[in-house]
Order: sequence, then structure tokens, then C-alpha cells
Amino acid sequence: MASSMSFLDAVKNRRTIYTLNKQAPISDDRVEELVKIAVHDVPSSFNSQSARLVVLLKKEHETFWDFTAEILKAMVPEDQWSHTEQRINGFRSAYGTILFFEDPNPVKELQSKYPNYAQHFPGWSEHTSAMHQYMLWTALEAEGCGCNLQHYNPIIDQKAKGHWNINMEWNLRAQLVFGGVPEGARDNLPKKTYVPLEERMAIHGK
Ligand SMILES: Cc1cc2nc3c(=O)[nH]c(=O)nc-3n(C[C@H](O)[C@H](O)[C@H](O)COP(=O)(O)O)c2cc1C
Repeated sequence: MASSMSFLDAVKNRRTIYTLNKQAPISDDRVEELVKIAVHDVPSSFNSQSARLVVLLKKEHETFWDFTAEILKAMVPEDQWSHTEQRINGFRSAYGTILFFEDPNPVKELQSKYPNYAQHFPGWSEHTSAMHQYMLWTALEAEGCGCNLQHYNPIIDQKAKGHWNINMEWNLRAQLVFGGVPEGARDNLPKKTYVPLEERMAIHGK
């Protein structure tokens, strides 16, 4: 099993990596364990526990991206198709995809229980999903995988829910693609530019 780096090292190392392969450095059992930790331990607003995660590995992952390509083919202008197809093939070349859904029912229950906060719960549901996404993105990074985050919802929702027998009420919020990182791919990532930290944070009373 790959060694797990420290939390802060993983936070610092995490990147969006599109060039991924099927040589995942962790076992399927370990992927499952990470997802269980996410579902069990990542917080949610008012402890709604509204996140619903579906993990697709190997052939199942490929099927998801085949469905996405099929749907996009009918939507994308012909002269742009080869660019889109290449992009989808890139995701397909990875090892797995984690689908992040939110169940609207716990959110609705909280809205009726706490009417004063009703308007905030949909936003907090998004935050809850994002926390699960970021935890798993960073955890997979710590285990030696590379990831990228996609948003082919809502065009893929119906097809994916039908195929994997997923509750039709759940709302798909994001797709985290993960896999092995080919030799050298990390060195060739685009350099990030940073808005100065002083413009983005303050500390008082230090
Ligand atoms: C909320 C959020 C949504 C994102 N959506 C997408 C997306 O739909 N497709 C994509 O390729 N990258 C997406 N990204 C990746 C960002 O573009 C990327 O994280 C950002 O440019 C910083 O680069 P880094 O991840 O390498 O640090 C998303 C990231 C975040 C945090």
C-alpha cells in the first residue's frame, strides 16, 4: 500500500491532473475505505448527512465516460467534437470516478424544522458536498493518486442514475476522476499564478 503523506503536505501537493492512467497506486479496498471515512467523518450542515457517494472503478468508470461522450456527441457542434472527445477520452483513461450526489430530503426536513434558516440550507448542502469532494481529492493525493474534478451534471444524471440504480431524487453535484500519475506528468503541470496572500487574508491579534 502506498504511504500516506501528512495532511498539510497533501494539501500543498494537490493539483488538477488531467494526464492519468489506470495504474492506481492504491487498492480498491483502500479507495472504499477512504470513501467510507469521507461519508462517516466529513461534517455536514446541521449534521444533515446529505452527501451520497457512488464509486465507479475500471470498466464501470469507463462506462460512465462512454455515456458522457454519447450524450455530448448529440450536443456539441461537429467542428468542436474532436476537442471534446479528446477531453472525455482523457478522463476515461484514468482508473476511477467518484460521483458526489446530494439527497434533497434531509435538506427539506431541515428547512421545515428550522424555517428561519430555510433559505440557507440549499447553499449549505453545496458546501457539504464540496467538503466531501475536497477531502477525497486531498486523501487520494496523499495516497499517490492524481485527480481532476468535473461537472458533467446535469446532462449525465438521468443516464447514470438509470444504469447504476441510483435514487432518482439525488442531485449529482460533481465527478472526481482519479488514477495513477504517469512518470513526469506532475513536473509538466501548468505553473499556477497566485493572487497575493495579503489580498486574500488578514490576521488580527497575533
Ligand atoms: C469548485 C471547483 C470547481 C471546479 N470545476 C472544474 C471543472 O468543472 N472542470 C475542471 O477541469 N476543473 C475544475 N476545477 C479545477 C480548477 O480549475 C483548479 O482546481 C484550479 O484551476 C486550481 O488548479 P489546481 O487544482 O491545479 O490547484 C474546479 C475546482 C473547484 C475548486
